[in-house]
Amino acid sequence: MQLPDYKEARKRTREEIKKENYVINQNAINIGLNKTYHVKTYGCQMNEHDTENIEAMLEQLGFVKEDNQDKADLVILNTCSIRENAHNKAFGMLGRLKHLKEETNKDLVIGICGCMAQEEKVVNEIMKKYKFVNFVFGTHNLHRLPYILEEAFKSKKQVIEVFSKEGNIVEGIPVRRASKFKAYVNIMYGCDKFCTYCIVPYTRGKQRSRDKDDILREVKKLVEDGYKEVTLLGQNVNAYGKDFNSSYKMENLLEDVAKTGIERVRFMTSHPWDFTDEMIDVIKKYPNIMPSIHLPVQSGSSKVLKLMGRRYTKEEYITLFDKLRTIPNVSISTDIIVGFPSEDESDFNETLDLVNYCKFDNAYTFIFSPREGTPAEKFKDMTTLHEKEERLYKLNEIMNKYFLESNKKMVGKVVDVLVDGQSEKDGMLCGYTDTNKLINFTGDVDSIGKIVKVEVTDAKTWSLDGKQK
Ligand code: SAH
Ligand code: SF4
Ligand code: F3S
Repeated sequence: MQLPDYKEARKRTREEIKKENYVINQNAINIGLNKTYHVKTYGCQMNEHDTENIEAMLEQLGFVKEDNQDKADLVILNTCSIRENAHNKAFGMLGRLKHLKEETNKDLVIGICGCMAQEEKVVNEIMKKYKFVNFVFGTHNLHRLPYILEEAFKSKKQVIEVFSKEGNIVEGIPVRRASKFKAYVNIMYGCDKFCTYCIVPYTRGKQRSRDKDDILREVKKLVEDGYKEVTLLGQNVNAYGKDFNSSYKMENLLEDVAKTGIERVRFMTSHPWDFTDEMIDVIKKYPNIMPSIHLPVQSGSSKVLKLMGRRYTKEEYITLFDKLRTIPNVSISTDIIVGFPSEDESDFNETLDLVNYCKFDNAYTFIFSPREGTPAEKFKDMTTLHEKEERLYKLNEIMNKYFLESNKKMVGKVVDVLVDGQSEKDGMLCGYTDTNKLINFTGDVDSIGKIVKVEVTDAKTWSLDGKQK
């Protein structure tokens, strides 16, 4: 048994990060024969991509995917810790699974992984109150799943293996991609920014960039396999390469990825601190780097930004924002937290001022959620939940107005759309524009997986309507 330890997770050492190759556990190779699996994913794209690895490892062991959770022999919850409600959702689901195991499927095997598995308190609770959970593994030992499963299937005991400290970068973990034409590619793991509210540096460990040759090999293979779009993933992609003091930075990687000829390159998430002018030049130079940038601001008050540990002021954010706006046809989205401890009405009004200036194309907005073990958990918070909810409502109202405005500007234009599939709306297709706007449109089913021209006919707050040209 190996349990998570928060003190260890907080540490950052100068130890060199090594690379190792994934090796399949030969003893586990038939464990999944005649069995089905279902993985439920919470949280960010990083977790979604981890699930693609988990599913491929399970299939190597003989398991077959089952879309209906209630019918699966093995259920894994890939969890997220970012806010309280992500926690609650996963624990709620555990309640359902307990019922399922007691009432209908006594042999059900249940596993928990992801960011919640890195939390000391969560694992202690699972050991005490959720004894029906068969195994727990963390974000640093995903590649060990076949070994953990071998133990879980053989022993009657709860198997817990969570490493507090990040290990090597593991290459060659198999992947079962959810799409045949859009792919996530990790370029870095972890985060060293330690924003005071955020749990990610504890659950994902030190920032480690992946070797550029491994990244480029993966992208070239995706091009060969007919993929149209890659999204380069990291908590803080602009800091790529900084951890190994390389002169090869994000702008160089972006350029090399664009040169592979893949039709669309996206990247996320960008922290304003590391966004360089050189990156902006590269984005302008390559038409296959999509003009869509997610640039979380979190707050429009420099006082609050300082308490958040974001390392930029409102003015610095706006200077960068203005530079990004020089990219032709660019769309810029953001994240905002309201109700951070000590945020008062005037700080909140500064956030509204910033939003009125930037007129973002899209945004995710949240009420501050204290996370155990982070500095902000201990900050004095005088604002009531009711006030915070009112701020969120007001903010969303203003932001929605700008989303609609930005969408309306597109009506009548013809845009490039990578077609994802059938839309939820009857008989329509859906996909994303180069600027990352969702569009539902009438068109040819054969276009799925292709980039096609679509004329925008109508605009809503969250999406566009159109017809294929
Ligand atoms: N690495 C990214 C963000 C990852 S988390 C970045 O730095 O921009 C995604 C978003 O969740 C954050 O941008 C933030 O707005 C929100 N978030 C993170 N921790 C939070 C917390 N404790 N309470 C509320 N929102 C939070
Ligand atoms: Fe969290 Fe800040 Fe790192 Fe983003 S940059 S993952 S918000 S600590
Ligand atoms: Fe959640 Fe972990 Fe991603 S906390 S947002 S799943 S990095």
